[in-house]
Amino acid sequence: MTVAIEMGHTSAGAPAALDLEELLATRLLVQGNSGSGKSHLLRRLLEQSAPWVQQTIIDPEGDFVSLGERFGHLVIDAEEHTERGLQSAGERARIHRVSTVLNLEGLDAENQMRRAAAFLGGLFEVARDHWYPMLVVVDEAQLFAPAVAGEVSDEARKLSLGAMTNLMCRGRKRGLAGIIATQRLAKLAKNVAAEASNFLMGRTFLDIDMARAADLLGMERRQAEAFRDLERGQFMALGPALSRRPLGVRIGPTDTSPRNGTPRLMPLPEAALEDARAIILAAPPPETVRPQRRSSPDLLDQLMAAKSAALEIRPEPVEAPTSAEDLAERRERVDRVLRAILAQPDAGFRVIGVLYQEFVVRCRIEGLASAVPDLPEFRRMLTRARAGLGSDLAGDDVWQDVSVRASLLPEDMQGVFMMIARAAKEGWPCPSDAAIARAYGSHSLRRARRLLTYIEEQGLIVCQFDGTGRRTVTLVELAWATAPGDPNAEAAEQGSLAL
Ligand SMILES: Nc1ncnc2c1ncn2[C@@H]1O[C@H](COP(=O)(O)OP(=O)(O)OP(=O)(O)O)[C@@H](O)[C@H]1O
Ligand SMILES: [Mg+2]
Repeated sequence: MTVAIEMGHTSAGAPAALDLEELLATRLLVQGNSGSGKSHLLRRLLEQSAPWVQQTIIDPEGDFVSLGERFGHLVIDAEEHTERGLQSAGERARIHRVSTVLNLEGLDAENQMRRAAAFLGGLFEVARDHWYPMLVVVDEAQLFAPAVAGEVSDEARKLSLGAMTNLMCRGRKRGLAGIIATQRLAKLAKNVAAEASNFLMGRTFLDIDMARAADLLGMERRQAEAFRDLERGQFMALGPALSRRPLGVRIGPTDTSPRNGTPRLMPLPEAALEDARAIILAAPPPETVRPQRRSSPDLLDQLMAAKSAALEIRPEPVEAPTSAEDLAERRERVDRVLRAILAQPDAGFRVIGVLYQEFVVRCRIEGLASAVPDLPEFRRMLTRARAGLGSDLAGDDVWQDVSVRASLLPEDMQGVFMMIARAAKEGWPCPSDAAIARAYGSHSLRRARRLLTYIEEQGLIVCQFDGTGRRTVTLVELAWATAPGDPNAEAAEQGSLAL
């Protein structure tokens, strides 16, 4: 069976077809400068082929999430999952033949590479029984297969480049058809680009990219000059799935649209802003209220700021505590500072660097400079506090055991686990989704439920629902169980558990 999808029209006005079966065997490379229409082209290809073949999109900008609404792709927010989770998601997507969008928006380069590699690894490693044909589209492929080392760690680069090389070189047998798009051919690893036999070349300005394109297409470099004159949405097509001779193609419209359209010129507001100088140049808001993403590179800046803020406050002359009582008293005072910080309404939603900064400053003001815990210790205290445990319980043997189990989880999930453990130990009702979300520093109930599922998948807990929809969580091995709790209860009703 031959399935040809229509990409648009040729310069002569004929339909420009793309042979999907052939594409599965011969892969596609799309290149063109920013704004040349690559993402639009990929969207057209995905929309036209959605009824025929399973697809996944590695989407660094979150441009393609709208495909989910129209075509039912499962959107996976990579930010919310571990690498291991994404690897399993990749495998399961293939086993169950579900089309997906891997949204990598908001992650730094290192994490984009690691998580894309994990997901691609899952697609690649699935057992032979599941090697059904699948399109794997990678937009901005130079991010995942860079030609030269960048600022990311060697390990991340190796993982990501390895996954992209597997996709393009060894994917065919496994049914994976790589479709990659890049702004700059010169920035894309050569071995990855070289494995595509189909090309769609869009507007290209730089000589070095033009030269690479001409080499790949087997054209004279002089001929490749024509790429300069292409308009937005116009591409030169060549390859067994497209055309045996270079063919000008104008890409047709799409049903869905990207979330971030091209900015259009808009008239400026008619009334001039009064006092523009005062408004624009007003003092910046304090650092601590600026919303920050978790795991953003800014965290380091915040920590540096915390350090310098801490240094700016002249330390009170403090004497080193001498006795065990003094130590206990100090620990209690440090705990009080922490509780005061956590009692602020938005404390659950602020990144740890910011909380730590405030904590250090307050400890110093209280004359506790010599007792300020370091960041790893602060992190542990925070986890315990969010679980409703004071530092008095820290030395308790049973809790040590719970902490060891918690340490099997990613750090940001440990507090939630501890909170549930506490409820289970005391026989309190199971925390609601809202209380779990709050302890995790999120507003998303969906995320809270996923978190619980994740912890269950790791074999640490078992969740059960009774006939009225109330949830009980049992801790594996310890066999402590919470009382049944309503997952939909408000966080405030269970506030005492969360903080
Ligand atoms: N064939 C087309 N028909 C109509 N509009 C198009 C076409 N191609 C592109 N556009 C529009 O042009 C704008 C830029 O296109 P697109 O986002 O696809 O560029 P790009 O090559 O992916 O750029 P970047 O590399 O910066 O991501 C978009 O608003 C898109 O909707
Ligand atoms: Mg794009």
